[in-house]
Amino acid sequence: MKESKKVIELTPAQVHTGFLILVGKGAPFLSHPSALVPVKEETPSVLLEQRAASLLHSLMQQCGGWQDIVPVSAWRSVQEQTVLYQQSVAENGEDFTRRYVAVPGESEHHTGLAVDLGLPVNGTVDFIRPAFPYIGLCQTIRKAAPSFGFIERYPEGKELVTRIDHEPWHFRYVGVPHAAIMTQKGFTLEEYIAFLRNYTRERPFLYHTKTNETIQISFIPMSTKQNTTIVVRTDRPYILSGNNIDGFILIEWRTSHDTLDR
Ligand code: DAL
Ligand code: ZN
Repeated sequence: MKESKKVIELTPAQVHTGFLILVGKGAPFLSHPSALVPVKEETPSVLLEQRAASLLHSLMQQCGGWQDIVPVSAWRSVQEQTVLYQQSVAENGEDFTRRYVAVPGESEHHTGLAVDLGLPVNGTVDFIRPAFPYIGLCQTIRKAAPSFGFIERYPEGKELVTRIDHEPWHFRYVGVPHAAIMTQKGFTLEEYIAFLRNYTRERPFLYHTKTNETIQISFIPMSTKQNTTIVVRTDRPYILSGNNIDGFILIEWRTSHDTLDR
C-alpha cells in the first residue's frame, strides 16, 4: 500500500507554541495560551489549557484527588504575575521571591500548562508555597502524574538547572510520552530539551510503550530564513511542539514492523 504523506509548513512563531515549550529564566513565554477552561467547576477562575485540564481531571479521578487537594493556581496573566511578584517582594523580600516566583513574562503559569496543587493545612493553603508532601494522597498523585502527561517541574537537587527552588506543588503538562521518559531518566524539562537535540528524523529517539507501541521522537531545527518544512505520514498519529527556543519536537507513532530507513 502506498504511504500517504503531507507537508507541514511551520512559521517561526510556531516555535513558541505546543505542549513542550521551555519557559523559564531567559526563556519568556512569547505566545498566547490556547483555549483555557476551568480546572474544576467549583473553582471557575482556576484555568488550564483544555487538554491539560482534561488530563488533570483524569489524574485526579483515578487518585480521588479532589477529595482533599485544592487547585491553588494555574494560568496567570503577566499582570497577575506582576502583582504576585511585587506583593511577595514586599512581604518576603527579594531573595525569597526570586527563588519561588518567576519574573513576570517568564512564568510557566502564563502558558496555561502549569498548575499548583495544595493540601490544606489547618484549613489554609499558602498561595506561593502550598503543601504537597511526598507521602499519602499527594505522593499517589505525584507517582501517577507522568501517565497523564504531568511532571513535577522543579525537583529537589535540580535548582541550578531550573533556576527555581524545589517546588513539590508545581506540576507541568508536557504530554505523554514525554512525561514518562523524563521521569524514567530523571530529566528536568531543560535537560530533556537538550537531550532531544541529539535525535534527528533520520536517527530518532525510540520509546517503547507498555502496550508495545514504538514512538519515535526527533528534533527539527528551525529554519532561520524561511518557514520550516517537514513531511509526515498521515496514516499514523503524530504530535508537534515548538521548544520555545530554536526548533520543533516531533513525535510519531509507528508499528514494530516499520524499518528505520523508510
Ligand atoms: N512558582 C513558579 C516558579 C512561578 O512563579 O512561575
Ligand atoms: Zn507554580
